Amino acid sequence: MALALVGGAFLSASLQVLFDRLASSEVLHFIRGHKLSDSLLSELKIKLLIVDAVLNHAEVKQFTEPAVKEWLLHLKGTLYDAKDLLDEIATEALRCKMEADDHSQTGSAKEWNSISTWVKAPLANYRSSIESRVKEMIGKLEVLEKAIDKLGLKRGDGEKLPPRSPSTSLVDESCVFGRNEIKEEMMTRLLSDNVSTNKIDVISIVGMGGAGKTTLAQLLYNDARVKGHFALTAWVCVSEEFCLLKVTKSILEGISSAMQSENLDQLQLKLKGSLGDKKFLLVLDDVWEKGCREWDRLRIPLLAAGKGSKVVVTTRSTKVAAVMQAVHPHYFLGELSADDCWSLFTKLAFENGDSTAFPQLESIGRKIVAKCQGLPLAVKALGSLLYSKVEKGEWEEILESEIWGWQNLEILPSLILSYHDLPLHLKRCFAYCSIFPKDHGFDKKELILLWMAEGFLRLSQSNIRMEEVGDLYFHELLSKSFFQRSVTQESCFVMHDLIHDLAQYISGEFCVRLEDDQMHEITEKAHHLLHFKSSSSEMVVFKRLRPLWK
Ligand SMILES: Nc1ncnc2c1ncn2[C@@H]1O[C@H](COP(=O)(O)OP(=O)(O)OP(=O)(O)O)[C@@H](O)[C@H]1O
Ligand SMILES: [Mg+2]
Repeated sequence: MALALVGGAFLSASLQVLFDRLASSEVLHFIRGHKLSDSLLSELKIKLLIVDAVLNHAEVKQFTEPAVKEWLLHLKGTLYDAKDLLDEIATEALRCKMEADDHSQTGSAKEWNSISTWVKAPLANYRSSIESRVKEMIGKLEVLEKAIDKLGLKRGDGEKLPPRSPSTSLVDESCVFGRNEIKEEMMTRLLSDNVSTNKIDVISIVGMGGAGKTTLAQLLYNDARVKGHFALTAWVCVSEEFCLLKVTKSILEGISSAMQSENLDQLQLKLKGSLGDKKFLLVLDDVWEKGCREWDRLRIPLLAAGKGSKVVVTTRSTKVAAVMQAVHPHYFLGELSADDCWSLFTKLAFENGDSTAFPQLESIGRKIVAKCQGLPLAVKALGSLLYSKVEKGEWEEILESEIWGWQNLEILPSLILSYHDLPLHLKRCFAYCSIFPKDHGFDKKELILLWMAEGFLRLSQSNIRMEEVGDLYFHELLSKSFFQRSVTQESCFVMHDLIHDLAQYISGEFCVRLEDDQMHEITEKAHHLLHFKSSSSEMVVFKRLRPLWK
């Protein structure tokens, strides 16, 4: 189910680009100026809206019905074709505008424009064929539309991600490895007086999905020193839907008897009274941007707690930490060390945690662990998956498979949550990043220029430059843990391997990368292509390759 939802978001993002193009003044001017049928473009838009309406259902169904999968592939290809056509119309419109301006020009500018007109001369026929190409596109969409009923596709608001099972404060410490250093640092902070003038300090644990934020918070929460220090403690799993009433109730349940009321005022008064100047530790696990704005209101009754009280918040986003005014520095949870990952893996993958009895599996196991790049969620999921498998071939199969081959594991759904939380414009910027090689340290400015060239950036205010918009997009993705600062190359950024896999999964064969002189089959669908020379880190990016044999 989760896999299906990813594809849906990608297609919706593509449709949004198309609708933007259809509404752009260049396209409209061109259509009117060339007496092309206005209604033809409206028809194209209507057809697009029809397929859009059933997209969510189609994406769920594609995994059980190969015909639906095929339908989606055709749709993606048609959307790219439509986007290209509209791009071409916009370019033609610009060219015509330049020609018109040419009448008022003299000298070298005029000469240049006559050269450019001469170069473009063979394209004159092509311009007249735009109308027939729009018709062809409508025809393709019509075929897809006719199949909607036959495939049993229904209109719908879209599938919601299934709710995650909530975390609790309990943890099996014998299964947790590493994180001692960060735990002790945080412990000192927790047991000390507040660093700010606030009565209650917020301490944040930030990291990508599955990095072990909840686990670290559990370790802290259950530590005897913490239990002895705080008079009251409460653990609340917040998750995507931050409901102030529910969270207030959960805190109350944690520190006193439950109160059967739906009245927020009564609940807040009771909470305030129960805290009665006592030292209080509250863990708010898994807070997302959508909900953290409620923090302002939740905070007020908490101010009744005693001096030195703390709130520990775990989140994937530094923005949440900022909105909740978490004290600096935030605790970033990076990769689990290779040794700790291996200990975790052996504990789960081998009977009694003993890998020595299976030397033929150990070397494959180490490669599998390396593939997880310090993400405990992935190490744990793959270790557990391999527990019952003793055949070398089965281990090799896992090693060679990609993230989307691990459909029944928790890894992809967990990462998809972050992807789903992104607004449409960031979804396509992120998916595009699959064009980089894995582990490639990319430069912020370079990426922003690429996004600009693809037309991914949208100006929301006239007084802001395109580069600044790109900068905002970039920092959004950085704050949500999609990008990380490179440890080896200062000023560069990287994507975690599994996040890169996710981007690749989303963009599919529409984004292709050629590394060095390696041969790679490029299908007609390839829309973005990057050629990378590892020796010089040189990159050349192409947009939409047109087959010569067509
Ligand atoms: N240090 C560790 N040792 C062993 N297992 C760990 C460790 N850290 C995390 N895990 C395991 O990895 C999985 C993911 O961890 P956790 O739920 O803490 O991640 P998270 O960062 O809170 O993820 P999310 O952003 O999805 O909430 C869990 O099954 C957890 O038990
Ligand atoms: Mg968590």
